[in-house]
Amino acid sequence: MIDKVSFTQMKDGTKEDYEFLTAHEIDHTKHTARRLMKAMVELDESLSGYQVTRLGHSVQSATRAWRDGADIDWVVAALLHDIGDIYAPYNHDEYAATILKPFVREQCTWVVATHGDFQMVYYGHHLDGADPNKRDRHAGHQYFNDCAEFCERWDQASFDPDYDDLPLEFFAPMVEKVFARQPYDPDVIRSGVREPLVDEKRAADRN
Ligand SMILES: [Fe+2]
Ligand SMILES: [Fe+2]
Repeated sequence: MIDKVSFTQMKDGTKEDYEFLTAHEIDHTKHTARRLMKAMVELDESLSGYQVTRLGHSVQSATRAWRDGADIDWVVAALLHDIGDIYAPYNHDEYAATILKPFVREQCTWVVATHGDFQMVYYGHHLDGADPNKRDRHAGHQYFNDCAEFCERWDQASFDPDYDDLPLEFFAPMVEKVFARQPYDPDVIRSGVREPLVDEKRAADRN
């Protein structure tokens, strides 16, 4: 068994090299969830100025989703929706959506990818050159109302230092479960399917 490939240019690699790399990458992907949880802790240090840290905001968004009875795809999407702030401050929404895309419902990926445009309605009017109606470019999209609700219930509402957040660790098993799924499984992606953000019955069980 080799412990390193033989080539210095990809075109010179052998079958053995690429079989070795595939095995290596599969092992690496198994730890995605753990790396994401570590990245969440790094979010704690980013973007000060709000009354809560970016981690606090993320955990609060996920806590609200959980208490609304949202399903696991929604809860994990709410937790990770701002993870792009670390490396992609100008398209943090698309960055987060790219991480989620192989593992959650298409609906949740779209909402995370576009939430930045939808959030503008809450503060765009205070900033020169910003368009509060940026969401209008998505008018008529099948998930438009889901993103509007995501922002209203979970995102724009989650900057409260006095809210009773669940701890980050509470969400770790859900992140593990989602990122252990078969990537791009059509039964997970469920293209075109809309699950509600709020489920009264599940919410009653959780609160
Ligand atoms: Fe955001
Ligand atoms: Fe956010």
